[in-house]
Amino acid sequence: MAAAALGQTWARKLLPVPWLLCGSRRCVSSSFKATDLHLEMTQEPHKKPNPSEPLVFGSTFTDHMLMVEWTREKGWGHPQIKPFQNLTLHPACSGLHYSLQLFEGMKAFKGQDQRVRLFRPWLNMDRMLRSAQRLCLPSFDKVELLECIRRLIEVDKDWVPEDPGTSLYVRPVLIGNEPSLGVGLSTQALLFVILCPVGSYFPGDAVTPVSLLADPTFVRAWMGGVGDCKLGGNYGPTVFVQQEAKKRGCQQVLWLYGPDHQLTEVGTMNIFVYWTHEDGVLELVTPPLDGVILPGVLRQSVLDLAQSWDEFRVAQRKVTMKELLRALAEGRVREVFGSGTACQVCPVHKILYQGKQLHIPTMENGPELILRFQKELKAIQYGTRAHEWMLPV
Ligand SMILES: Cc1ncc(COP(=O)(O)O)c(C=O)c1O
Repeated sequence: MAAAALGQTWARKLLPVPWLLCGSRRCVSSSFKATDLHLEMTQEPHKKPNPSEPLVFGSTFTDHMLMVEWTREKGWGHPQIKPFQNLTLHPACSGLHYSLQLFEGMKAFKGQDQRVRLFRPWLNMDRMLRSAQRLCLPSFDKVELLECIRRLIEVDKDWVPEDPGTSLYVRPVLIGNEPSLGVGLSTQALLFVILCPVGSYFPGDAVTPVSLLADPTFVRAWMGGVGDCKLGGNYGPTVFVQQEAKKRGCQQVLWLYGPDHQLTEVGTMNIFVYWTHEDGVLELVTPPLDGVILPGVLRQSVLDLAQSWDEFRVAQRKVTMKELLRALAEGRVREVFGSGTACQVCPVHKILYQGKQLHIPTMENGPELILRFQKELKAIQYGTRAHEWMLPV
């Protein structure tokens, strides 16, 4: 497809860019352009990982990275694909001091036809721009960034693993790069993208359930806060809570919110409950995007798939621990699971809540729905079923 036509197709998949730029920024380069990409190939290619050895998530990087600099005076510079390298940052860099930092996470998959495809990257571009707006970091053209990322993956396509369940994790980052200790608007920023080949989250077609700590003393996000943006500042403080969960024999955290202990998210995943609702209707429910929930790409995909099946009710509604306890006592819960780029769908079998270990019968129920989502997503992602969600690289 010609580049111009491709741009139009992508533009239709992206949300319109809301008005956001402060006056002076409109005069300078308001986005970088993929046609200005400068490519510098590495002279020292690294050895690719041995497919028989397991890949630890996020610790193996490909040979190249994308980098684009921005200043208030000049706007965006030319995007550059460079050999993977360390960054040089001023010690006062605002991204380091005040969490003026945001990121994204998405995956590219290599199909049996050897073609590499990105999974719904338009949604990541939309979310990334929203995060940038929330931090008053510079805007960019989502179509141009996506094309630059596509080119980066093309350069490093031999790094995309091909064993079942493996993929290439794509990590775009945007930081304020202000060399000053004042808390304020950044006059300099840096956008970069790095790539990691990653292994299968669950080996084979099986899924392994996780246990959760649900302790309302820990709050991940709150109304009026930034839980609905993918900002680094949302993640650092969760490490302590994750350690607390481990100490109490749980693998991950179930984030509760409000006096009624609403279920919001699981670790770094959105949460779904598949049950018979109090009104007797079989439904799949997930909390609504009311400000404390990250709008996950997998969350949207699970909702879209379930809606297309039209076999049970699909709802976006608050779910409280009281409702879950009642449904468990009445035997109405079928499956509870998390959704996210890392695992796709991940079953939950235990929740430690107010000193009691709740057993969730997810695995006893198949888990029928989870395995169906997993199968459908795999077929789409690895290209066995052609789907408009995939962007060929
Ligand atoms: C807090 C949180 N919720 C949900 C998700 C799932 O989002 P996605 O499906 O886009 O990976 C993530 C992903 O990192 C997350 O950090």
